[in-house]
Amino acid sequence: MRQAGRYMPEYRRLRERHSILELCHEPDLATKVTLQPVERLGVDAAILFADILLPFEPLGLGLSFAAGEGPVLAHPIRTPGDVKNLRTIDPEEDLGFVLKAVRRVRSALPQDVPLIGFAGAPFTLASYAIEGGSTRTFTKTKTFMYNEPKAWNRLLDVLAGLVGSFLAAQAHAGAQAVQLFDSWVGCLSPHDYRTYVQPHSKKALALAKQSGAPAIHFGTGMGTFLEDFAAAGGDVIGVDWRVPLDDAWRRIGDRAIQGNLEPVLLLAPAAERDRQVREILARAGGRPGHIFNLGHGVLPETDVGAVRAVVDLVHGR
Ligand code: CP3
Repeated sequence: MRQAGRYMPEYRRLRERHSILELCHEPDLATKVTLQPVERLGVDAAILFADILLPFEPLGLGLSFAAGEGPVLAHPIRTPGDVKNLRTIDPEEDLGFVLKAVRRVRSALPQDVPLIGFAGAPFTLASYAIEGGSTRTFTKTKTFMYNEPKAWNRLLDVLAGLVGSFLAAQAHAGAQAVQLFDSWVGCLSPHDYRTYVQPHSKKALALAKQSGAPAIHFGTGMGTFLEDFAAAGGDVIGVDWRVPLDDAWRRIGDRAIQGNLEPVLLLAPAAERDRQVREILARAGGRPGHIFNLGHGVLPETDVGAVRAVVDLVHGR
């Protein structure tokens, strides 16, 4: 999940001088930001500082981040013709700065702290590519999906190939695990997930798997089709707070699980926050294969001390 970011004073200080894209493009800066939460929080693993939308730059979609508005694409994908014109991305050539950051982070991190590389899942990426930014309703995305199924499948196939090879390249560069983020997949019905999305996530995860690194398959709001989501692949399934951890674990079967504290609990009174942290640990029941995590990213309003307190509680300190 997002570990670094605006809730950290040291991140905000860097952001006064550099845009988010500058931080991503400059391997020394990306390394610095990746290490900040490891040093400040004492977490067991580091997640690379990058963004799921970076592949949109070499794809020619014109990525920028507008202050307060989130991501904006100057050239969104709106027609089957736009899909046809997409070029093939080579991770080494087109996203080499990310792989450089992976190598640099790997040599800067303590040996016993693994590095997680990541990419966006085909559906979540397609939603940004088609909407041209963030959305609450996914209207343009779903309209395209239903009306242009051929172009839709072609788009998701291209994205699956891209992110699958990108994840494998990050693993080859030194990431010990990779995570596929399907952050907005929960806006779909079970039927539509199976029909329009699952085969593409499966392809991406199979390509990533060729590297030999374990893959974490994360989504939010997909409790109504968790079995289908898990069937797409992943050595670890990442779940949000909407589904009790032990129920989710039963439903995904013999696999590792990541999750699943509600991020807003980091803004709650310590007693309630800690009670719910212990509840998750109790539901995991000490079984091997649980990665304690938030159900989604750390919110900008969060106090660093609250995050640190949760890490310490989970570590039994
Ligand atoms: O935590 C880390 O150090 C890892 C780095 C990381 C970022 N983005 C940096 C970032 C990771 C893992 C991501 C993933 C990402 N990016 C996802 C999937 C995970 C999730 O949260 O669902 C998504 C959907 C994105 C797309 C994205 N990037 C959005 C919607 C935004 C804008 C958010 C906002 O509130 O304005 C970003 C920007 C972004 N990427 C930030 C960070 C830390 C915000 C920081 C800033 O403005 O400085």
